[in-house]
Amino acid sequence: MANILVLHGPNLDMLGRREPEHYGSTTLDSIDAALVLLADSTGHRLESFQSNAEHALVERIHQAGADGIDHIIFNPAAFSHTSIALRDALLAVDIPFIEVHLSNIYRREEFRRHSWFSDIAIGVISGLGANGYEAALNHIVELHKN
Ligand code: DQA
Repeated sequence: MANILVLHGPNLDMLGRREPEHYGSTTLDSIDAALVLLADSTGHRLESFQSNAEHALVERIHQAGADGIDHIIFNPAAFSHTSIALRDALLAVDIPFIEVHLSNIYRREEFRRHSWFSDIAIGVISGLGANGYEAALNHIVELHKN
């Protein structure tokens, strides 16, 4: 059984209402609920955490290290493009993670094209909407079959 943490960065609590042309109409609660169901059905444990505050996400990553979390699925949202503190937190705990973006960050403004996480992630999923989280979880489930 794997312990999986899903981390959501700033403004993702507004999903469903926020710029639906970029982020779709699914709410964060329904994304998280679908992930818990999928994890349960494959015999894994999944929890999720959202914060608008960088320090709270740093502390949650440190906690994940202490709790023995095996994998993280992370949408750093706007912190993707700014946060060396979150990058360093992930390097410090050394937990493998998959970076997810609902929108395709390469089809948008120039400033979204660089992420401080992509080169240290297992992989990056960008532009598949809420399905991207399920794709990330399916990959983690496959890794744990070996
Ligand atoms: C996002 C893309 C980011 O550029 C943006 O700041 C977000 C969401 C996405 O899921 O597409 O808040 O990470």
